Formats: sequence, structure tokens, C-alpha cells
Amino acid sequence: LDGQTITRLRSFHHPLRAAVIGASGGIGRALAEALAGCDEVATVVACSRSPSGPEHAKVVRQPIDLEDEASIAEAAQAAPAYGELDLVIVATGVLHGRGLTPEKTWRAIEGAALARSFWINAIGPALVAKHFLPLLGGNRKTAFAALSARVGSITDNQLGGWYAYRASKAALNQLIRTLAIELARRNPEALCVGLHPGTVDTALSAPFQSGVPEGKLFTPAIAAARLLAVLDNLGPEDSGHLFAWDGEAIPF
Ligand SMILES: NC(=O)c1ccc[n+]([C@@H]2O[C@H](COP(=O)([O-])OP(=O)(O)OC[C@H]3O[C@@H](n4cnc5c(N)ncnc54)[C@H](OP(=O)(O)O)[C@@H]3O)[C@@H](O)[C@H]2O)c1
Repeated sequence: LDGQTITRLRSFHHPLRAAVIGASGGIGRALAEALAGCDEVATVVACSRSPSGPEHAKVVRQPIDLEDEASIAEAAQAAPAYGELDLVIVATGVLHGRGLTPEKTWRAIEGAALARSFWINAIGPALVAKHFLPLLGGNRKTAFAALSARVGSITDNQLGGWYAYRASKAALNQLIRTLAIELARRNPEALCVGLHPGTVDTALSAPFQSGVPEGKLFTPAIAAARLLAVLDNLGPEDSGHLFAWDGEAIPF
């Protein structure tokens, strides 16, 4: 797969309608662009806090701030104008920035930083699920996917550190599993999954790219194409799990 690969979403009902939350981010923008370039896709509802984002005839914009539930509800109220949704991808997240530095030791743990990470990485996606899951169509393959991270896997944690990010992504993983159970009762063909994009060249990973092995730092376009290919290949039995960019299931 390269950045030029044309995305196909053949396993979904089409014309397909998708929403990307966090369409101003490195990976979110690439996902929205890949979806807009996909023949099966009719509309991409691109929701973001910053006004920057993809420009395309199939893209409609909606403002959203994960720290303001009313804005999430408003974006969800606007989405049905474009038809039932088939795919919702939450591509928001935070690792560093305003009062937030990944902790190397327990001495660096700060309540405010933990709270902020939990809000953006776990509570925000949960509120998006609350307002957007009811917009997914029934009786066909649909998907709700949130970008999580391998470091949120409790089983996989051999290195330690990064308390706030790890713990907030672990909380997101538990939310995904719980949402998946409820969603399956409503539509047994629906998917609710976490996705690990690999290490991707975005503002989020920028300070931490020096140790990344050669060939393992993906462009956002490649990551987006791979993640959409993973979603296209998953079936209902995969719901409630976390998948990496190459389709590998990562244990929670
Ligand atoms: N890059 C990697 O190597 C990597 C690896 C593993 C997992 N991930 C995960 O992939 C996801 C996307 O990361 P990225 O690399 O694309 O990061 P990014 O370029 O920094 O994008 C982050 C996105 O989150 C949005 N966001 C943050 N706080 C928000 C809020 N309160 N309300 C609404 N939107 C908010 C940002 O919006 P603004 O534009 O308004 O700030 C931006 O769209 C994250 O969940 C991250 O944890 C990334």
C-alpha cells in the first residue's frame, strides 16, 4: 500500500456515509480525504474543533469540541440531513501539549494532566458514541471505530511510563468493548473497534520520532489507507477488539 492507493470499502453498504471526528488532525484529515476519494462513499461529515480540514465536494463540515457535549450533540443532530451513517471514526486524541508531558516516572504524575488526558482520549470518544451510535443504520455492516494506541494495551505494557496516555487509552479500550456489547444487541452486523495506526508522522508523534526504526514512521495517507483496509476486512465477530494497521489483533 502506498499513499496513492485508492481506498475501496466493498464490504459496506453503498453509497456509504461516513463521519470523521477530529478531521483537522494528521490522521483524521487523511482518513476524511481517503474516504472522500473512495468511489463507494457519498458523503463525509468532517467534524473538528479547528476549522482546518479536508476540502472536497463530498465533505461537509461540522464544528465539534470534545470538551463541550452540546457541540457533539449539535454535530450529531446535523448529520442525519445527509442520510443514515455507515461509518463513524473518532480520530481525536492527545499525548502532549498544554500542561501535558508524557511522564517518565510516577514523580511526574499530575492530577490535572491525568484528567485532561482522560477527558480527550476516553470521555470525549464516549460522548461521541452516545450521540453518533444512534445514527448508524441497521441490518447491515456498520462501524464505529476510535483511534486508540498499542500502548493502551495492559497486556502489552512492558516499558512503563506515559501514565496519563496509557491509562486513558486503556479506559478507551474498555469503553469500546462495552459499547460493542450494547451495539451488537441493536445490530448484530455492527462493529465497534479500536484501531492502532502505527507510528504516524503527525504533530502528536513529532517529539517522539527519533527512536522509530527506518520504514516504521508512516505518512498519514498510508496510515489512513491501511486503517480503512482493516475496517473493510473486519466482520461482526471482531467487534469489541483492538486492531493494528496491519490487521493484527492487539490484546487489551
Ligand atoms: N501519530 C501517531 O503516531 C499515533 C500512534 C498511535 C495512536 N495515535 C492516535 O491517533 C489519533 C490521532 O492522532 P494524530 O497523530 O492524528 O494527532 P494530531 O495530528 O495531533 O490530531 C489530534 C486531533 O485531535 C483533535 N482534538 C484534540 N482535542 C480536541 C478537543 N477537545 N475537541 C475536538 N478535537 C480535539 C485535534 O483537533 P484540533 O486540530 O482542533 O487541535 C486534532 O484533530 C489519536 O487518538 C492518537 O492517540 C496516533
